Amino acid sequence: MSALNELLGRLDALRRQAEEELAKSDTPEALEAFRIRYLGRSSGALTALMRQLSDLPQEERPAFGKEANLCKQRLQEAFDRKSAAARGPAAGTQATTDITLPGRTGLVGHIHPITRALTEIISLFMTMGFSVTEGPDIENDYYNFEALNMPPYHPARDMHDTFYLTDSYLLRTHTSPVQIRTMESQKPPVSIIATGRVFRRDWDLTHTPMFHQVEGLLVDRGVSMSHLKGVLETFLKAFFGAGTRIRFRPSYFPFTEPSTEVDIGCVFCAGAGCRVCKKTGWLEILGAGMVHPNVLKRVGYDTDAYTGFAFGMGIERLSMLKYNIDDIRLFFENDLRFLRQ
Ligand code: DAH
Repeated sequence: MSALNELLGRLDALRRQAEEELAKSDTPEALEAFRIRYLGRSSGALTALMRQLSDLPQEERPAFGKEANLCKQRLQEAFDRKSAAARGPAAGTQATTDITLPGRTGLVGHIHPITRALTEIISLFMTMGFSVTEGPDIENDYYNFEALNMPPYHPARDMHDTFYLTDSYLLRTHTSPVQIRTMESQKPPVSIIATGRVFRRDWDLTHTPMFHQVEGLLVDRGVSMSHLKGVLETFLKAFFGAGTRIRFRPSYFPFTEPSTEVDIGCVFCAGAGCRVCKKTGWLEILGAGMVHPNVLKRVGYDTDAYTGFAFGMGIERLSMLKYNIDDIRLFFENDLRFLRQ
């Protein structure tokens, strides 16, 4: 028998012996003992046999090396299969999954800052006895302008940058038309706020073509400017904080007389003067006034018996000042980084 055949025979015997023994090794301890005995790198039986390679003539070495490696590979695979099985049926997954880790939670949505401000504004006016109403986004010229004391030639119409749909239909430029609709359908006393979208042809840091307003209207016997002042001061101090400074500045709106614009002390510089308040220390926050008698007459209210006040404000502006947002367009870009804050 050649030296090669002799070695191949021993290899075959070793393989059979190892397979038999592996079949009997069922515990982790037995398997580990098997691994050391047969597959161990330094003192395993296979390694020992492979060392005999040097006893072979040069030309026979590759043939034996190939057989020996194949044998080792097969035994290793059989051993790996058996070890995995010994660890249990779920052994493969258990090794990589820590079932004590918390699960993945779903993303929770956030209230949009406009909705948030709106909700707060509504609840503040409701506690003062106002009810909440709405009007259509598409208005006609009569409600948006004419009934509000702005006849066709009136210069104040220019300020509104109106989107016209037809000659007589348009996207409302403010929520004031809801005043008219409310008074047409309701006898005094009236105390409502109206919220909703308004539209103007404008687009920059502080203007978007669609934005939101809150309108207020209160009509009753003996209503005066001091009631208007009390209601607005109560609202502004609740919304911006008890320490908020407030001033009423004379102004002009066609549908109120007298008219006023209300400013609050700048929330950014506390009145010292900065870029946002243009160094005045004050921020304009809303328009208001005593309802013009022409408006009351239009809806058939008796102007000898009744007087009223009205006010209107932009929700984006209130929200920007309250939450320190410097670009109105952020509200409508739906960037999640903004909405999640
Ligand atoms: N409608 C006005 C505007 O959009 C705001 C306004 C001013 C509303 C005075 C009023 C008011 O009710 O009395 O610019």
